[in-house]
This record gives sequence, structure tokens and C-alpha cells, in this order.
Amino acid sequence: MAEAPGVFVRELERGDGALLEIRQLSSGDVGCVVWDAAIVLSKFLERRERAESGLFAGRSVVELGSGTGIVGIMAATLGANVTVTDLEDLQDLMKTNIENNSALLTGSCQAKVLKWGEDVVDLPSPDYILMADCIYYEETLRDLASSDTCILCCYEERTTGKNPEIERKFFELLRIDFECEEVPIDKHDEEYRSEDIHILQICRKK
Ligand SMILES: C[S@@+](CC[C@H](N)C(=O)[O-])C[C@H]1O[C@@H](n2cnc3c(N)ncnc32)[C@H](O)[C@@H]1O
Repeated sequence: MAEAPGVFVRELERGDGALLEIRQLSSGDVGCVVWDAAIVLSKFLERRERAESGLFAGRSVVELGSGTGIVGIMAATLGANVTVTDLEDLQDLMKTNIENNSALLTGSCQAKVLKWGEDVVDLPSPDYILMADCIYYEETLRDLASSDTCILCCYEERTTGKNPEIERKFFELLRIDFECEEVPIDKHDEEYRSEDIHILQICRKK
């Protein structure tokens, strides 16, 4: 069926051949499209699940700055109970994508407004926090992550404008309370990987 004007679909094939169909908008803010880091993280989750079956089943996941919701939706196809979060403007797009992919979900997925730096009291600390291309607000991580939370943060290295400084500052602040370990690229998905896209596994310092 033809899409409405201004809507275009990003398909992402899972290892079992099932297709995630993610609607994107041709106009709107940065969250209306799927970023490469989101694809890399989604496929990494799938690879981890293949390597360690049952890793995500029944586990609680919060995704920050979800945009279209693709990463959280992938986690919910792996059995996780996911809350995808973003600004108010992105809620309809995330809800549409959850609904359109609901047949593939073996866990659950709901959308919520979460603005970084604001209260996250109505969200309990999850087992996992996922972030793709969102390295701005380390205090939301401090509010949300317990000592048992595993944070998976995927980002594309950017060398232009203020980006290197934003990256440097984020990691400097993050390292006060958290330990970060880079996931080696040979552990990323064999096809969906790139030298300038990094995945970090982050946890609170003990
Ligand atoms: C570069 S996009 C990445 C979107 C998605 N994670 C992906 O990789 O496809 C950054 C996302 O952060 C969200 N964002 C920006 N500022 C935010 C804020 N103050 N609070 C919550 N989300 C925010 C945007 O709406 C957008 O969806």
C-alpha cells in the first residue's frame, strides 16, 4: 500500500527473515528518521541475543531519544519489555511504528515522553538503557540507572562543528560515576558495522 505523502519506510531484516518496517518522516526534527547508529545498535542486540539466548527475554528496557523507536522495537522483538522515550513531538511516530510491528513483538513496547534533565521518577531503573546517537545528557543516566543497569550507547563519531567538544564533555562527566567499555567492532553485527560507529557498554561504578 502506498505511504502517505512525506512518509518513507526503512526496512530492517532480522536474522530470521522477518522485516521491521519503520516509518520515517521527510520533514520534522532529527528524530523523524532512522540514524545509522540505531541500525548498528539494533543489529548488535540481535547478535548478542543469538550468542546468549534469553538475554533480553522478560528484561526491562528504557530507550532514550528513541526517535522512530527502531532500537526499542528490535529489543521488544527479542522478548524485552520496552519503554521507548522521546520528546512529545515524536510520540505519534513511535506509537505508529510500535503498532505496525506489533506482530513481531515477543515482549512489549510502550512509548512515553521523557525529556532529558527532567524528572524520571515514574520510570523504575531498568535492566537495560539503550541510546543511539544521543550523547548529550549524562544526568538522565544518573537518575535512571541503578547499579544493576547495563547501558548500551551507540554513537557515530563526528568531527565537525561543536560535536567533538560535546562528545568530550559527555564522556568526561559520564566517567565521574560510570565505567565505560567499548565493544570491539568484531562483536558488532558482521554486516551492519562501521569504523566510525562505536558501541559502549556502561555501568555505574561499584
Ligand atoms: C540524532 S536523533 C537519534 C534518534 C534515534 N535514537 C536514532 O538513532 O535513530 C536524537 C534524538 O534525541 C531526541 N532528543 C533531543 N533532545 C532531547 C531532549 N532534551 N530530551 C529527550 N530527547 C531528546 C530527539 O528528538 C531525537 O529523537
